Amino acid sequence: MTTSTGLDIRRIGGRIGAELLGVDLSADLDPAVVTEINSALLEHKALVFRDQNLDDAAQLRFVSLFGELTTAHPTVPSVDGRPHILPVDGDEGIRANHWHTDVTFVRTPPKASTLRSLVVPPYGGNTLIANTAAAYRDLPAPLRELADKLWAVHTNDFDYAAHAAPKNEKAAEHRRRFVSRKYRTAHPVVRVHPETGERGLFIGGFAQSIVGLGPSDSRDLLRIFQSYVTRPENIVRVAWTPGDLVLFDNRITQHYAPDDYGDLPRLLHRVTVAGDVPAGVDGTLSHVVEGDDASHYTPAAA
Ligand SMILES: [Fe+2]
Repeated sequence: MTTSTGLDIRRIGGRIGAELLGVDLSADLDPAVVTEINSALLEHKALVFRDQNLDDAAQLRFVSLFGELTTAHPTVPSVDGRPHILPVDGDEGIRANHWHTDVTFVRTPPKASTLRSLVVPPYGGNTLIANTAAAYRDLPAPLRELADKLWAVHTNDFDYAAHAAPKNEKAAEHRRRFVSRKYRTAHPVVRVHPETGERGLFIGGFAQSIVGLGPSDSRDLLRIFQSYVTRPENIVRVAWTPGDLVLFDNRITQHYAPDDYGDLPRLLHRVTVAGDVPAGVDGTLSHVVEGDDASHYTPAAA
């Protein structure tokens, strides 16, 4: 489909994902183009822009068109001299090969995330992105009604016991830094999207427990809901080439980076747009259980 401003939008998955052609993200974009990109983001949830070859400054400028930026991360250091850019490198032991939504352990997780590829392996190292609204719609009615009422506690100090021990000193150091401030936030299991009203499962790797349930019941129930998110039908798989940029709606997706490229180098730069406080189906807002409001991380905390 070609839009009125000449954007060429090509779907790349049945339920999520589109590639956008006919736009140079380093240019001064017309507000009408930005509006169309935002509409495409709401509809397709993950957008791929090939061969853009942006530098850090251009990525920051483009992402700022969608709102105020967060800093790189609540606990992990940014790229040197670039406080809003998180380096996503493939150092063994710190790879994001678990399904998650970015930074859901704070009360105001980012609205959208962008990843820009600098170095990618010749094979593997893809990013998988899942549509959590499609997952919600896939739930049988009794599970959907149950999910509507549930709340989950998300934390950055999630259960690493279920994962392998840190593989090396660098991974152990990353883990120590990651949990250097502890956050626990209660979010609705079903989040109503603030722009579209669509409902999506808002869980993922930082969701540790269901409010009111013990650890065993929590794990089982989260596993069942999560199994709908990770159905192949609900996922698009992005194979990177250097110079690409991917923009996804962090309010209604999860993502996963398969650890399948051995010791080959991989480097992406992540920039995220600040997001609002999630609301459940009855309008109740997320609240902090432990930790600060992360105002050093996101301007949305205020
Ligand atoms: Fe992520």
